[in-house]
Amino acid sequence: MTNKERIKVAIYGLGGVGKELVRDFNQREDIELVGVIARNPLQIGHDVGILSGLDNKTGITVTANQTKEQDLYETTKIDVLIHCAGANNAKGTFEQVRTALEHGINVITANVGTTDLWSSDPELASEIDVICKEHGVTYFGQGSSQVLEKAVIAMTEGSKEIESVSFMHHSDVHAYSEKSNRETLGIGLSEAEFDERKKAAETNSAELNSNIDSVKFIGDNLGFVIDDVKTKMSTYVNDSGIVFGTQETLIGYEQGKERIREDWVFILDPEKRYYDKIVIHGVPEVESVMNYSPDRGFCTTYATIRNSIPVVMKEKAGYLNSLTIPVCRWYGGDYRDIL
Ligand SMILES: NC(=O)c1ccc[n+]([C@@H]2O[C@H](COP(=O)([O-])OP(=O)(O)OC[C@H]3O[C@@H](n4cnc5c(N)ncnc54)[C@H](OP(=O)(O)O)[C@@H]3O)[C@@H](O)[C@H]2O)c1
Repeated sequence: MTNKERIKVAIYGLGGVGKELVRDFNQREDIELVGVIARNPLQIGHDVGILSGLDNKTGITVTANQTKEQDLYETTKIDVLIHCAGANNAKGTFEQVRTALEHGINVITANVGTTDLWSSDPELASEIDVICKEHGVTYFGQGSSQVLEKAVIAMTEGSKEIESVSFMHHSDVHAYSEKSNRETLGIGLSEAEFDERKKAAETNSAELNSNIDSVKFIGDNLGFVIDDVKTKMSTYVNDSGIVFGTQETLIGYEQGKERIREDWVFILDPEKRYYDKIVIHGVPEVESVMNYSPDRGFCTTYATIRNSIPVVMKEKAGYLNSLTIPVCRWYGGDYRDIL
């Protein structure tokens, strides 16, 4: 048992992930929820416990974003802010949490685009890094889509030679709300609406939350000099013309030779399958399939964020690449004992 102060956490965005975090923190001795920021008038001013489906009130009411969030940062000690506020790109996400960083608060965001900005948007990475260092805080992205690469790299420990690596991330998204799937993935849109959105994103690369950072990360780690990456986005469409799944394929080449292949499938899978298949072509040949329960994507998103709290508090100040932060392991004890 520790007598240290509880870790003070606030949440930005009270949707599916945010509510799960509220329920989780409600049961913990070591974490104290001290604030929740949202934009929805139906949530502002109401108790976050009741809004999150708890039987009890938490005593914390929802703070209005923009108009009141600064007051919260100024009047309340917050060690970590968790940002899980809907679909956005890395730049927009940063703008939503900039004030928190400037108030000396560490931030973890669920935004998929905030994975390795040092590769995808070095200018933005550098801007965030300067602010973090000035205020002595740490910022990174975390979620179910940012944990696979570490497992792939770990699996090469026993390899003598490697020719190429490929994986398929097959994610059933039934556990997310319809709104979250539509806004974040385009699932639920008509094919025409999806194509329109894709075209808009192509003309504005800031809108893309692609997994392209992942190819570079694996290439760098394995010593492949990736000089070309080809990407293709395809859709699964039902008989009524509605998109119920997307597949992003990325292939990394070294002098014309395929070295890395990644398939990221997000789908309302009728069989609710959720798995990762990793293949390492080399000596020895490795083929591994990890099957998860269907709630994995949603569960792992809030779980990795929760498991990252000691890491964001302990790591050096700055903007950090999600793929190179330490493994944010599950820890069953009191987080204050490992800070
Ligand atoms: N990294 C990963 O692997 C991973 C995996 C899954 C999800 N995610 C991300 O996690 C985030 C949360 O997912 P979710 O399923 O919880 O989404 P959700 O159910 O749609 O919830 C998002 C919430 O954020 C609120 N919001 C949106 N913009 C806001 C703003 N400017 N200020 C305050 N609140 C705002 C929304 O409010 P309204 O009700 O007013 O719209 C909604 O309550 C999404 O960004 C998603 O892309 C990441």
